[in-house]
Amino acid sequence: MMALIGIITVSDRASRGEYEDRGGPAILDYLTRVVTSPYEPVCRVIPDERLLIERTLRDLCGIENCCLVITTGGTGPALRDVTPEATEAVCDKMMPGFGELMRKVSLEKVPTAILSRQTAGICGRSLIVNLPGQPRAIQECLDAVFPAIPYCIDLLDGPFLTTNEARIKAFRPKK
Ligand code: MTE
Repeated sequence: MMALIGIITVSDRASRGEYEDRGGPAILDYLTRVVTSPYEPVCRVIPDERLLIERTLRDLCGIENCCLVITTGGTGPALRDVTPEATEAVCDKMMPGFGELMRKVSLEKVPTAILSRQTAGICGRSLIVNLPGQPRAIQECLDAVFPAIPYCIDLLDGPFLTTNEARIKAFRPKK
């Protein structure tokens, strides 16, 4: 079965068409450069509404069976930022190491990295990873965590993802 990877842009303004979504395309571009096994992206652009984010996550994880769902936006302290809450609400278990590592590498670039509450977790057999809305945060954050993502998906009995090793070396512990 073809691997599906979900990409959700969470942004009031992008969803209303007030500006062009740059986060979703940046994630797509990253995957194109890094993932070498076959996959199809499933892209959504939605407003910062907690129930809608939860419904979209459940849809991409449970119905579409995406092995990986990457969100961008809505991780900050503003009133409308609720992506981590929606992620936690749909997940069976949280994977706090992803947020910890992404904030650590981001802090080396920008002091406001501590303002992101980005997290990750497992929803059924899918891994959900939150990224900040800043398009330049996308590569910085994904470079840090992507080496562990293929093995995480193996552990969820998902498709065997391979990467362009010149960019990202997927780490799989020898059994
Ligand atoms: N992380 C990286 N790597 N690069 C960034 O530019 N921006 C920060 C932070 N994390 C940033 C980053 C800022 S300014 C904010 S407010 C938070 O992410 C939350 O962003 P979000 O609400 O768009 O998700």
